[in-house]
Amino acid sequence: MAKISGFSKLTKNEKISWIAENYLSDHPQAIEIIKQYWNADDKLQKLHDEFTENTISNYYLPLGVAPNFKIDGKFHVIPMAIEESSVIAAASKAAKFWEERGGFKTEVLSTTKVGHVHFSFSGNSQHLEDFFQNNKNKFFQDAKSLTKNMEKRGGGILDIELVDKSKSLENYYQLHCTFETKDAMGANFINSCLEQFGKTLESEAQNFEKFKVDGKFPEVIMCILSNYVPECLVRAEVSCPVTQLGDNEADSKKFVDKFIQAIEIAKLEPYRAVTHNKGIMNGVDAVVLATGNDFRAVEAGVHAYAARSGQYRSLTDVKVENGEFKFWIELPLALGTIGGLTSLHPLVKLSLAMLGKPSAKDLMRFVAVAGLAQNFAAVNSLVTTGIQKGHMKMHLMNILNQFEANADERSEAVEYFKTHTVSHSEVINLLEKIRS
Ligand code: MEV
Repeated sequence: MAKISGFSKLTKNEKISWIAENYLSDHPQAIEIIKQYWNADDKLQKLHDEFTENTISNYYLPLGVAPNFKIDGKFHVIPMAIEESSVIAAASKAAKFWEERGGFKTEVLSTTKVGHVHFSFSGNSQHLEDFFQNNKNKFFQDAKSLTKNMEKRGGGILDIELVDKSKSLENYYQLHCTFETKDAMGANFINSCLEQFGKTLESEAQNFEKFKVDGKFPEVIMCILSNYVPECLVRAEVSCPVTQLGDNEADSKKFVDKFIQAIEIAKLEPYRAVTHNKGIMNGVDAVVLATGNDFRAVEAGVHAYAARSGQYRSLTDVKVENGEFKFWIELPLALGTIGGLTSLHPLVKLSLAMLGKPSAKDLMRFVAVAGLAQNFAAVNSLVTTGIQKGHMKMHLMNILNQFEANADERSEAVEYFKTHTVSHSEVINLLEKIRS
């Protein structure tokens, strides 16, 4: 295996040649395949090249849409970037199901984001508290040039608190800082403010008499936002009379009983909860990606939230009250509809346009709905037909594509697998039979 220095300085073609020569020598068509995925429009390709470093090609994900989502009384189409078959079909099915039963209701519960200056201090903690109280305003003042624009948009720094963590880790303290970032996800804004707070902390400490006397000063370890945002929270809900959930009373009751048990299992059994929440994230990530947001941040924050009680649990919950079935989700989501990729990536711009140029709050509502819809569809299938029925139908299409089945072969296969179980080998057998 080869090693290289100065790789980033090579041209794109040089990088590709080096990779092909050193790592892909068994793939004579490697360079051709890599370039097949370049965009014919040089300007567009350059835009993509510059999103990250050492770009050699583009990695496509399908961008699909799930229509007919009735959310707070209005119809929406939800753009979803996802490679997994069945996800968009499931979302569309859930949208239709709930559209006929009043649609999704949402509420943004809070929009506060968080960041920390993590620092060490080995002196008297009361002196640190005195210093902080004397200088709290200075932190805000010193960050004025950074917060001016955000304040014009109604956001800014909400509060800064000194937190003593020295019982958990020797000499560890933090400035726990809260922010309102309006329609921006706010990572750059928050991190810039935090780094300024770090500078203010260290420089002002030099002038504080009690620190000077002791010769002990706070020392910044790091300044960084937190992707755990339990106070940037959205709720989405669906509800309908239990009787509307089946063809007759007995069916409805059986379905609801099983559905409730499935959610209870996901609330108490982490093995199931992880898969349950993975299904929710199928919907969440797809919209987060389509709208140019940071799905890693969302994933990390959501899973931490799912474990907030000390045990990893379901993100959705259900109850039946006075004959009414209620199913809901609460999700922490730090999203942006301005800044970052949202103004750079042409498809992201279109995805946001499809959603009616949403505010960050609106996007939170749409993402939560996508997660809830996905979970409803998954649990619905799981407690009735099982998920393989739908999955294998999509899987059949993928296998037929893989073997370049023509239109006649496809319809014959679809017909055949209406009464037979799909498996990779069964599809190949059938194709061989048709072709011979
Ligand atoms: C598959 O991507 C997602 C499911 O496993 C989710 C679930 O089990 O709830 C179907």
